Amino acid sequence: MNHFLTLKDLSPAELKQLIQRAAELKLMQHRGELYQPLKGKVLAMIFEKSSTRTRVSFESAMVQFGGGSIFLSPDDTQLGRGEPLEDSARVISSMVDAVMIRTFEHSKIETFAQHSSVPVINALTDDFHPCQLLADMQTYREHRGDIAGKKVVWIGDGNNMCHSYINAAQQFDFELHIATPAGYEPDQRIVDSVKADIKLFNDPKAAAEGADLIVTDVWASMGQEEEQRKREQAFAAFQVNQSVMSVAADDALFMHCLPAHRGEEVSAEVIDGPQSVVWDEAENRLHAQKALLEFLIGE
Ligand code: CP
Ligand code: NVA
Repeated sequence: MNHFLTLKDLSPAELKQLIQRAAELKLMQHRGELYQPLKGKVLAMIFEKSSTRTRVSFESAMVQFGGGSIFLSPDDTQLGRGEPLEDSARVISSMVDAVMIRTFEHSKIETFAQHSSVPVINALTDDFHPCQLLADMQTYREHRGDIAGKKVVWIGDGNNMCHSYINAAQQFDFELHIATPAGYEPDQRIVDSVKADIKLFNDPKAAAEGADLIVTDVWASMGQEEEQRKREQAFAAFQVNQSVMSVAADDALFMHCLPAHRGEEVSAEVIDGPQSVVWDEAENRLHAQKALLEFLIGE
């Protein structure tokens, strides 16, 4: 049985295959083909943080695949009243075919997975967001082909998305430049855990030189709302705007996992401009996760 807690849970070959499958599933969906490989299967979805894309994509994926899903929040389950995670994992996994979890500490999803009898999918923790990377890699491939050997530049916070890009640099074999303000670097243990060409910068334009893909994310992630003001000051020089895009390759793409704050981490000109592929990137959450569900729980 496979879990998908980080991108390292699948081999580079499995990830490549999954991205290719996502493209096929997208084509089938756009052609209106009915394809229901998960008839009678159920996905439990535990959300301890808000979500638009992740919830809609997983729920739609299960319906389109002929199965169903159950939305569980701590507000109306025993999870919010202190039932041990280990017990919840045993019980929930005895009734469903896979469990998707969005939570805070990454250790919580690891504990859940240890006690689950079915595959567990990480739908975002404080440390990683691997499902978003599947969509991002699918999106790059559909616009520009293979990402291997390309220069990817992360600008902003060394957060969960940045950590997943670090894992992706190893698994998809691209060069990664990371530009953050001092004090907001990614976790050095995660950087050290991969075999990849990764360089850290404190200057966004120096990092973005010749980039094939520029990626950013919010300055304050879910759970950091009270740091918003402090972070706005620390990150003021890290906005992805035309001046940053101008030093990248002419055909560089821009991505953002969304939700975005125009005028903060990205200018409206860039996110709504011709190099931005954020709407494909968001739609591809559906197709990439269908490929993942088929891989994890299909026959
Ligand atoms: N990108 C992403 O995971 O969006 P949601 O928080 O809306 O699910
Ligand atoms: N880094 C952001 C990603 C949201 C999809 C957060 O954790 O809030």
